Amino acid sequence: MPRTPLIAGNWKMHGLKDALGFFDELAASGAVSERRELLVCLPATLVAAAVHAARRHGIRIGGQDCHTESSGAHTGDISAAMLRDAGADFVIVGHSERRADHGETDDIVRAKAETARASDLTPIICVGETLEDREAGREEDVVGRQLAGSIPPVFGPADYVIAYEPVWAIGTGRTASAGDIAAMHAFIRSQVPDGEEVRILYGGSVKPENAREILALENVDGALVGGASLNAESFAAIAKSS
Ligand code: PGA
Repeated sequence: MPRTPLIAGNWKMHGLKDALGFFDELAASGAVSERRELLVCLPATLVAAAVHAARRHGIRIGGQDCHTESSGAHTGDISAAMLRDAGADFVIVGHSERRADHGETDDIVRAKAETARASDLTPIICVGETLEDREAGREEDVVGRQLAGSIPPVFGPADYVIAYEPVWAIGTGRTASAGDIAAMHAFIRSQVPDGEEVRILYGGSVKPENAREILALENVDGALVGGASLNAESFAAIAKSS
């Protein structure tokens, strides 16, 4: 079965209501096509309004994180069920900024992925090594451990998406080399059950200038785009490179 490319934006903690014109602009750019899936993961405050603005264009909306529980006494948190209720289809879990800023372990990420799936969301499970890990030559050990710990063993290949994001390439303007990306994506595919059917995205300073080369690599099934997803024109250019 062919793996449909997924081009996903991650707005992080950016975006107020007046940013929602993005979806009309993205649609007008001609980036929407049956050849690819387009997704934007937004701050929770914008999800419901963005679903309204994006759905008519066939663009999907996701959250950026969810709690491990579907409801409960967790002030300030948001559940997968709530994101689903607001119209989201996907949620990012285990982003390196969550792992670093909020101490999220593989066990927590796995629990989030489980609750996301139980609420009918597709989790995008993020993995990636630090610069220190790469310089010490242990990037495969680190990513292998994250995969084993973060992906629920009961998941089938269509239940989730993986995003490989080397921590040192996120928001830094540095991207991994084509060879390093290709090697890691092949490694990841070899590590997960039914790997041929799992979509594996690359993330870390993807921009219009490098998207074509990255998205053409074997085993790269799309991109998770931070900074360059804030602007409809650059996100569209990346999408059209797939
Ligand atoms: P970046 O972020 O494209 O700004 O490097 C990617 C991400 O964190 O998902």
